[in-house]
Parts: sequence; structure tokens; C-alpha cells
Amino acid sequence: MSHIIPYWRRYQRLIFTAFAFLFLESFGDLLQPMIVSRIIDQGVMEGALPVVLRLGGLMLLVTLFGAGCAVTRCIISSRVSQQFGADLRLDLYQRINCFSFGALGKRETAALITRMTNDTSQLVSFTHGMMRVFVRSPMLLFGAITMTFVLNPRLGIILLVVVPLIALLMYISMKVGFPLFSKMQEALDRNNGVLREYLSGVRVVKAYNTFDQEVERFDVSNTELAATAIKATRVVGVFFPIISFAANMALVATLWLARGWVADGQMYVGQVVAFLNYMMQITMSLRMIFNVYQMFIRAKASAHRVGDIINEEDLQGLGGHSSSLYGGAVSFENVTFVYPGGGNEPVLKDVSFELPSGETLGIIGSTGAGKTSLVQLIPAFYLPDLGEVKVGGISTSYADVNALRASIAYVAQQNTLFYGTIADNIRMGKPDATMEEIEVAAKAAQAHEFISASPEGYETIIGQKGVNLSGGQKQRIGIARALVRDAQILILDDCVSAVDVETEGAIMRSINMVSPTVVLITQRISSVINLRHILVLEAGRVAGYGNHASLIETCDVYKEIYNSQLI
Ligand code: CTP
Ligand code: MG
Repeated sequence: MSHIIPYWRRYQRLIFTAFAFLFLESFGDLLQPMIVSRIIDQGVMEGALPVVLRLGGLMLLVTLFGAGCAVTRCIISSRVSQQFGADLRLDLYQRINCFSFGALGKRETAALITRMTNDTSQLVSFTHGMMRVFVRSPMLLFGAITMTFVLNPRLGIILLVVVPLIALLMYISMKVGFPLFSKMQEALDRNNGVLREYLSGVRVVKAYNTFDQEVERFDVSNTELAATAIKATRVVGVFFPIISFAANMALVATLWLARGWVADGQMYVGQVVAFLNYMMQITMSLRMIFNVYQMFIRAKASAHRVGDIINEEDLQGLGGHSSSLYGGAVSFENVTFVYPGGGNEPVLKDVSFELPSGETLGIIGSTGAGKTSLVQLIPAFYLPDLGEVKVGGISTSYADVNALRASIAYVAQQNTLFYGTIADNIRMGKPDATMEEIEVAAKAAQAHEFISASPEGYETIIGQKGVNLSGGQKQRIGIARALVRDAQILILDDCVSAVDVETEGAIMRSINMVSPTVVLITQRISSVINLRHILVLEAGRVAGYGNHASLIETCDVYKEIYNSQLI
């Protein structure tokens, strides 16, 4: 909970103002039964209409005052709690943005979404609840007891017996209930996880017709959730009636006792009525404490989960944005790399090569050879465990990642498009790109033709993840996004796989004309056959390095790939 406190502290003043209004509001609540008793004893019983009118007027004033305080407090607390939620969400969002690739890899997307949505909502409701209960409940509890003593000490003594009894019952129900509520929350999380996974993979499920298996999986977690929820609510269902019963029995007993006292003239009817009111206020405040405690348990679990994001220390890319400072040369010096948390088996072993600025490196190798892993070290998505990756002569371990990444355009193997227009998607590569620049980039990526063929051209809206485009069209927009960046180093990770060979040739020709340093991952020999630098990767090791002619002579792996693609 401690990492949430700074967020509350920002609204310290408003929170304390809310507490002050809460204090006044509860004070009004406490006065009312007292006034009622006077109206009855001094007004109604005596038949004195002026007293009834006078005290009735006073009561009206107190009620209006209390209502005014309640409204003000409510406005403040809604504002504070929602603002708190907005702050927290924004912070988490920005925080996740700074996560290193290693930190992102450790977490499921679903878990991050839960933290940003459900967990922040829990904290918001607790914040709101806190401003309703913190001062009010204890004040009503102790105030009502005090007022009862003032009213009539005998009735006060009854309360001293009854209230601890009710409090004890509540305590027991909390003790029994809360572990169950925590379990319920866990079950809910699991159920959400299953659901999210299903939804994100629903197309695969349909394609393989494994709906029954999915239903079964969902059914298991769903049934578990229902079972724990039933258990938890059963506790409330059993204890709350018992508590009400105890409170009501106490009332009945009091009434029975009071009957004699009133008859003896030791007590007035109005006092008994006021006592009943105080008694109700006390049970109400105990119940509120119970509810808020329940909120607290949930909020605590949520705070813990939110803390997982706030306290992550594996960050990158903090600090201001810098312009590109790096030259285009890339070199690997005896690089060994293990994925964080991915066991001890290195995916890159002792990889070395040197690519001068302005040249093109082709990387070829079988699937799983480590090609993607290799290029991800260039923009410092990960740092090497041994050896050094240098860009523009500077080791990525010491580089300013913002500046480094500003000098690189990277087209990932699974490139993502975002909801928005085609122009917006291309503009991601360079936020201030003009329409001309965007068109030039699209032409170079061989995308201009199909974009302008659609009626809305560059303003065509792309659905989430580019659902309304073909695989090859998506890839070409991804390339245009990289080209518009005008970066010193262009990394293309197998991103023309869905484009025909002819179009690929045209794309490569226009890239060569712009001539930045290019790192090109491919599965096709034809894409690299004319390059001076070809790196053959096999199981994380460099199996060969050179041009086509020399590799055919010296590198068996390369020869094998070549032969397999001859036909
Ligand atoms: N790997 C991993 N953790 C990741 C990504 C990959 O442990 N987050 C491992 C994979 O199991 C694989 C190895 O790293 O054995 C190399 O993966 P990658 O570099 O992605 O291989 P590519 O050569 O890019 O394979 P492909 O042609 O299929 O893209
Ligand atoms: Mg790959």
C-alpha cells in the first residue's frame, strides 16, 4: 500500500477538507435523535405545541446542515478518487512504456491490462469509501455511546454490553470471511486470464475447432469462481442475520426493561426512542467498517499488483528525447546473449561481425537460428551478456537509448499496425512527416499503388492490428513507416516474406538508392545473392560470413540453403 500513498498525498488538502465535512455531517447525525427525544418528552408529552415547532425547526436546520455537508463531501470525494484513479492509470501507462524488453517479456499482456483496469478501479473505490467512513464510523460509534450516556446512563450501560457483543460477532465474521474473499478475488483473476487468452486467440480456436476444449477450460475456472463466491457470500449470509438478530434482541430487551423504568418515571419515552436511533446508528457504522475493511482487503491486493508495475526497476528509455547522434556502422564483438529469464542456454554464441556505415548486411539462417534475437540487440532492446554491440562506435551498454533508437528504423518480423489512418500509421516513423514525405516513403515501399487505389487513399482507416489489409499490404506499410524515418540504420526482419519476389526487388532497389546502413533478415537466397556482406547464422553461431561466391565455397550451411532453393 505504501507506493499508493504518494498519490493520495497529492490531494491531501482536499481529503482533509472532506474529513472536516464528514465530521460536521456526523455531528448533525448525532444531534438528531437527541432533538427527537426532546420533541417527544418536552413537546408531545406535555402538549406544548410551541416547543414542538421550535425544536422541529431546529431539527430541520440540523438536517439541512447535515445534507449540505454530505453533498459537499460527496463532490470532493468523487473528484479526489476519480482524479486519483486517472493519475494512477496515466502513471502506470507511462511506466509500462519505459519497461525494458526483458521486463515486458516477464509479464502477460492480460496481467498488465488487469492492473490498469480492475486494480485501479478497486483502489478508486477504496479511496472513495475511505472518505466516507474513516472519520464517520468511529465518530458515530463513540458519539452515539456518549450521547446515550448523556441521555440516560442506564441506557448507556446497556450499550456498553451490547456493542462489544455485536463488534465481536462482526470480527468473527471478518476472520472467517476474508480469506474466502481473497480466494474469490484470486479465482476471479484466473477466470479473467482464461477469458482473455481465449478472446485473443479466438480465431485459432475456430480454425482448429477446439471450442469444446476451451469451454472445458473456461468451465473449470468459472465453476471454481462460482464455488468460492458462494462460500464467501454464505459467510455474509449467515453472519449478517445473526448480527441483526443480536441487535434486535438487544432492542427488545431494552424496550422490555425500559417499560418498567418509564412506568416508574425514571426515564422518558423520548429517551427510549432516541436510544433506538443511536443503536441503529451504531450497527450501521459497524457495518460500514465491515464493508470498507472488505474494500481494503481487495485494495491491498490490487495495490500489491499495481506495485509490481510501479516498482519495476528494469527500465529503459527514460529521460528526454534526443536527436540522432549515431553513425551507421554496426559491429558485434564476441557477443553472447541469453534471454532474461529464458534459462541458461544462450541464443547467440560468440557472434562477431563488422558492418561499415552505408552498407547492407544480409542475415540468413534456419528458423530459430537467432536472427531476430541478433537484430534486437542493435536498438538495445536487450543488452548482450558477454561481448559488445557497437553502433556508430558506441557500445549499446552505455548508449542513450532514445538517441540510439532515433537513429534506427526497425521493421519487426511481426509488425503491428494501429487503429487509425494509413497516413497516421506511416507517420509513426516520423511524427512531423509531411504528406509528401509519407508518399515518397510509400512509393519506395511499393505501397503507394494499392493505397491510392482505395477511395479514401491515405485517409483509409486501418482496423485494429490492420485487420482489413492483406499480409503483404501490412508489410509494405510497415516498411514505409521505417523508410519515412530517414534513419541511419534500417533493420528489416523478414518483412517481405508476404511480398512477391518482383515487388521485393523493387523495394530493395529504392532502399539502396536512399542507402542507409541496412540489416536485412531473409529466408530467400535470392534476396542476398548480390550482397557483399552475408551472415549465415546457425543455432546462435556464425556459420559463415562473406559474399555469395565465397560462402558457396566455404560454408556448408549456406550451400545447403542455396541448394534447397535452387528449384
Ligand atoms: N527465444 C527465447 N525467448 C524469446 C524469443 C526467442 O528464448 N523471447 C529463443 C527461441 O526459442 C529460439 C531462439 O531464441 O530458439 C532464437 O529465436 P529467434 O531469434 O527469434 O529466431 P529467428 O532466427 O528469428 O527465427 P525465425 O526465422 O523463425 O524468425
Ligand atoms: Mg525471427
